[in-house]
Amino acid sequence: MNRTSDIIGTYFGQKGNELLIDGVTVSSIVSDFPTPLYIYDLGVLKDNYLSLRNGLTRDAAIFYSVKANPSLGICQRFQQLGAGAEIASAGELAIVRKAGFAPEQIIFAGPGKTVEELRLAAQTGILSVNIESTQELEAINTVSKELNRPVFISLRINPQKNISGSQLRMGGGATPFGIEEEKIPEVMSRIRQMDRIRFQGLHVYVGNQIFDYDLAMKNIRNTLNIARSQSMSCRFINFGGGFGIPYYKNEPPFQETEFINAFNPVIQSAKREALFGKTTFMLELGRYLAARCGIFLTRVLYVKKTRTRTFAVVDGGMNFNSMATGNLGQRIKRKFPVCVANRLGEKARGRADIVGPLCTPMDNFGRDFDVPAIAPGDIVAVFFMGAYNLSASPFHFLSHPCCPELAVENGAIQVLRKAADTDRILEGQFPIPPDSRPAN
Ligand SMILES: Cc1ncc(COP(=O)(O)O)c(C=O)c1O
Repeated sequence: MNRTSDIIGTYFGQKGNELLIDGVTVSSIVSDFPTPLYIYDLGVLKDNYLSLRNGLTRDAAIFYSVKANPSLGICQRFQQLGAGAEIASAGELAIVRKAGFAPEQIIFAGPGKTVEELRLAAQTGILSVNIESTQELEAINTVSKELNRPVFISLRINPQKNISGSQLRMGGGATPFGIEEEKIPEVMSRIRQMDRIRFQGLHVYVGNQIFDYDLAMKNIRNTLNIARSQSMSCRFINFGGGFGIPYYKNEPPFQETEFINAFNPVIQSAKREALFGKTTFMLELGRYLAARCGIFLTRVLYVKKTRTRTFAVVDGGMNFNSMATGNLGQRIKRKFPVCVANRLGEKARGRADIVGPLCTPMDNFGRDFDVPAIAPGDIVAVFFMGAYNLSASPFHFLSHPCCPELAVENGAIQVLRKAADTDRILEGQFPIPPDSRPAN
């Protein structure tokens, strides 16, 4: 578990054998709140955000991708830190409005926006609806006519060049995301025929879990070249995000300093070109901004020694944490950084698989963890869990009430989402009347 000691040393702390989260011991957290739970260290969130923000030129804007963690409190904190918001649904629009983002701080991407969502975005007057298909362009045009109001749009482009290397490729080749680069002239001429559609710029998002800063820069240079080749004067150019988080042993951290040192001169020199004189350059990041501050805490219920393996069965698994159980997409493999948070520094006494409470072998945080003398009541901590966590998990599966989310700041804990009562499982459901026809 050496990697976890690095994570604890860098972001958290230790007192005796216990993990400290912003100075608070894990035992005091789990004595006050039911497990499983998520806890976010807002100091870590702020440091991570400011490290990037303060390094980047002021010609660059950071947008927080709400899908990474749509908790109201987390969105609110990014708003207070000065980020914009990138949303992908009407639900996320409601969250970010409640979190305090002004319409001109919101951009809306996603390949399947409904007409109602487009209407809502137009009525709200958001900064940009990022158009992902020619069909969607026609739909937003209809909405703008019907509402008789201008709508600001950008084009999400699927580039011709294949910038490979990220884990989840969303650009190049055939994808449901964005308009193919070669269609830009045709689409721009159609936009010019639309009275109330106001073209703002380009958006290119090619994939996630990008660790190599040079790969991110390749996408950035390529996106600038797309604008240059089409002489597109843009109010915004959105380079997407996807900076990686090293969940696994062999993954390096994203090279932030190298990225900043490469990015700033490219942007400053682009600003001197007539085409980009008035352009704001955007990064839209989810995982990179949110993951590191979050820890999932789950309690050991049973330690079960079987014929060949030992299982530590914990009270929260893939129902609340699909990410760390490896079920969020084929490419995301286990084992995530995990420790027994009340036995830090104790010698490994054997190996155990850490498994959740669901009736499926998929509910598994990983096999063969080196563990100390793990026992019922111990607390397992999973790190880097601030992104794609609860909202990306099938928390209705097996009908456990939804787990709480907490934040800790300056040593004080705040509840962001309270633990749901068991009754909530039945909320919104209606019984059916008895079948009036006999069975035979
Ligand atoms: C269009 C778009 N923007 C931003 C993101 C956020 O990506 P990440 O959390 O990897 O930064 C995604 C993720 O799928 C996306 O599809």
